[in-house]
Amino acid sequence: MKKSLLILTGHSKGLGKATLDQYLKKPGFQVIAISRTNLENSAENLTQLDLDLSELDVLENNLRTIFPQEDFEEVVLINNAGWIGEIKPIGELHPAELRKQINLNLLAPMYLTNAFIKAYKTTAGKKVVCNISSGAASRPVSGWGGYCSTKAALAMFTMVAAKESSSPNFKFYSLAPGVVDTDMQQNIREASKEDFPELDKFQKYKSNGDLSKAQDVAAKIEFMLSHVEKFPEVIQDVRNFEVA
Ligand SMILES: NC(=O)c1ccc[n+]([C@@H]2O[C@H](COP(=O)([O-])OP(=O)(O)OC[C@H]3O[C@@H](n4cnc5c(N)ncnc54)[C@H](OP(=O)(O)O)[C@@H]3O)[C@@H](O)[C@H]2O)c1
Repeated sequence: MKKSLLILTGHSKGLGKATLDQYLKKPGFQVIAISRTNLENSAENLTQLDLDLSELDVLENNLRTIFPQEDFEEVVLINNAGWIGEIKPIGELHPAELRKQINLNLLAPMYLTNAFIKAYKTTAGKKVVCNISSGAASRPVSGWGGYCSTKAALAMFTMVAAKESSSPNFKFYSLAPGVVDTDMQQNIREASKEDFPELDKFQKYKSNGDLSKAQDVAAKIEFMLSHVEKFPEVIQDVRNFEVA
């Protein structure tokens, strides 16, 4: 049986960690996982790369390691690493933080999607790119200028990639995961009311128990990417389907 490969960014915690756990137990899958932090996990089918994805020169130098040239049954790229960034109104953002956020949330997944297509466009087998999006890609949120913009731009890039692709073996998704109980939500709840007018709403998500569990969302991601024939559209939201 041929092997399959998952390349996953932001695997060290939150939604990425839960997605990693899903795929490590999937028969035949090898995983290449990228974050700044390595997990203590000695699974034979896991290779961890500790890279800061906002350092684009370093990322570029590692692209060959990230996309091995082998004959895989299936290759999946999940661009999950992301950062809410400085939660402040436009006019008070620090350029260096904005640059770091754009590098991580937008340019790194663009580099990786581009390199993925280049590496696997002539290989056989199924190829899937899933760029993790957000409701903020289509809704302006005060205080999230960098975050909304990077997620919107990444969704458009994903739609262009899908439009350009003539191969039925390739699938491209921009997937919103809902509101998930991770460190990112903790960071959002720590913003000031002055900088983030929706603070109360996000604090209530936690106190009312309305946040999704990362494990449940990861199960939906794995289900969708394993049943691409059921999900023809590029823009997807986990809140619109259940694991059948
Ligand atoms: N949580 C939500 O409610 C929610 C809602 C909508 C969309 N999302 C999206 O879902 C994805 C996962 O979010 P999450 O909530 O799981 O966030 P999280 O708990 O903060 O985890 C973020 C992951 O990204 C990695 N990462 C951060 N900066 C990095 C860098 N410079 N280089 C490499 N890796 C980096 C982190 O690892 P290291 O720190 O070890 O590098 C971590 O593994 C993100 O794209 C986010 O925008 C989340």
